[in-house]
Amino acid sequence: MTPEQPSGQLHEVQRPALTVDRHISATSLEQVLELLARHRERARVVAGGTDLMVELDRRVGTDLEVLIDLSRIPGLTSIHQEPSLQIHLGPMVTHNQCATHPLVIEHGLPLAQASLEVGSPALRNRATVVGNLVTASPANDTISALRALDASVTIASLEGQRTVPLADFHLGVRRTVVQPNELVTGVSFPALSPNQRGTYLKLGLRRAQAISVVHVAVVCGFDDRGPDGGTVTSARVALGSVAPVIVRSTAAEEALIGQVLDADTMTRAAAAARDSVRPIDDVRAPADYRLDMIEVMVRRALVSLRRGEERRSFPTDVPTLGGPVVPAVPVEAQHGRGDLVTATVNGEAISAPWIDATLLDWLREPAQRTGSKEGCAEGECGACTVHLDGTSVLSCLVPAGRAHGSSIVTIEGLASNTTLHPLQQSFIDTAAVQCGYCIPGFLMAGAKLTEECPQPTEAQRKLGLSGNLCRCTGYYKIEEAFGPAGEENR
Ligand SMILES: Cc1cc2nc3c(=O)[nH]c(=O)nc-3n(C[C@H](O)[C@H](O)[C@H](O)COP(=O)(O)OP(=O)(O)OC[C@H]3O[C@@H](n4cnc5c(N)ncnc54)[C@H](O)[C@@H]3O)c2cc1C
Ligand code: FES
Ligand code: FES
Repeated sequence: MTPEQPSGQLHEVQRPALTVDRHISATSLEQVLELLARHRERARVVAGGTDLMVELDRRVGTDLEVLIDLSRIPGLTSIHQEPSLQIHLGPMVTHNQCATHPLVIEHGLPLAQASLEVGSPALRNRATVVGNLVTASPANDTISALRALDASVTIASLEGQRTVPLADFHLGVRRTVVQPNELVTGVSFPALSPNQRGTYLKLGLRRAQAISVVHVAVVCGFDDRGPDGGTVTSARVALGSVAPVIVRSTAAEEALIGQVLDADTMTRAAAAARDSVRPIDDVRAPADYRLDMIEVMVRRALVSLRRGEERRSFPTDVPTLGGPVVPAVPVEAQHGRGDLVTATVNGEAISAPWIDATLLDWLREPAQRTGSKEGCAEGECGACTVHLDGTSVLSCLVPAGRAHGSSIVTIEGLASNTTLHPLQQSFIDTAAVQCGYCIPGFLMAGAKLTEECPQPTEAQRKLGLSGNLCRCTGYYKIEEAFGPAGEENR
């Protein structure tokens, strides 16, 4: 508390962050469009909330009044192939869905690879591809993958529907063509044909939870699948974190088209990619380093395409910690000050007042379930992990109103009666429990990991727990608590 701060008054970082009057769980797209038409700039839609909740925490958009939650509308998580061979993603398709869906892996590998690079498993269970596009950061992973896949975006309002090439969708940093009364209703891209191959590569400052220093997505068409890969007939090279928006390097593409993908062509294309961008210095990297890395990574992407190795490092057994998507069960609800949120928490029906804050705040304060901890309040540490409708999520990034009508399990509900969950017991037996802060999150993530992969391999453990931070370097003990690592199956 600062000397100027009167006692009893919360410091700014202690105050619940959101400043909205109402949370509305929508049950149909028509309802969303009507609400957007009525409230315009005073309303925002929430998909996974992983960007929006952080924005609200930082008090960006303080004139907001209404959050319109899309996650209760059935049918928005579909991934399917249309008769035109376009792959269509609904507006609530999550990154974990893309990272594990056979259609995306088979016909849009760069998108599956980019989705797997986003944040951590629990984040990917709620974070959507459409949210990633609308947030419009030049570092956002799926934008480049979808640019290289030549995607388009469908946008609707009460006035009708329009389809915009993704190339025309972004106007600048955090700016898109979507108007306040409009909703993105889907993304489509042509399925890669047998003579097209693509890949996505990211450079971050660490292997998980890292915003791109740079990333590249490359899709090439070949006239033949001969030993040298054949002649390149088409090329799309998209580059991220090097300009205010994701860019395509036409110079690199021109260096590839009509050429055999030999060492000389790859070197020229990589150098052309480098020469086509002017990145900036920022906290993640100086501009010169970004330029060097763009050249290296474009070359690496091309080498893997030439060798046909682009799928080799993509895991086929990605742990999602409970499911790639929280199922949409329609619940028509509106919550404002004084309204009660009713949820099943650890098997018990609980009604507690709605607060304009997060699910974590609601659990800890009105619902009095204090086991889930707030470490970072912005999705980075995993201490707040809970199971929402059967799936691991970061409760600091979920709006409190989303709890209504949901089934939630917190750390208090992991044991059954007096018997600890086997993983809780194992954490005690192996001395993995060192503090009460990070362990609830590790256990909630770990319980879902062992449900999904009873004997996780080392890679699955590392991936599954990649969203949970321990600040006292206790990872060896924590990994030991999962028992002997399972066999790698690839
Ligand atoms: C800890 C952390 C790590 C992250 N790591 C990465 C990373 O590695 N790579 C990366 O690319 N991103 C990362 N992100 C960013 C974020 O998770 C993604 O951008 C995510 O895909 C956003 O989707 P969402 O569903 O959560 O969007 P939301 O937060 O729900 O929405 C984001 C914005 O899009 C709007 N919106 C959502 N859906 C629609 C729609 N259908 N129509 C119109 N507007 C819509 C919302 O109103 C809001 O303005 C990270 C975020 C956090 C908190
Ligand atoms: S991830 Fe939610 S508190 Fe850190
Ligand atoms: S054991 Fe909790 S931070 Fe390390």
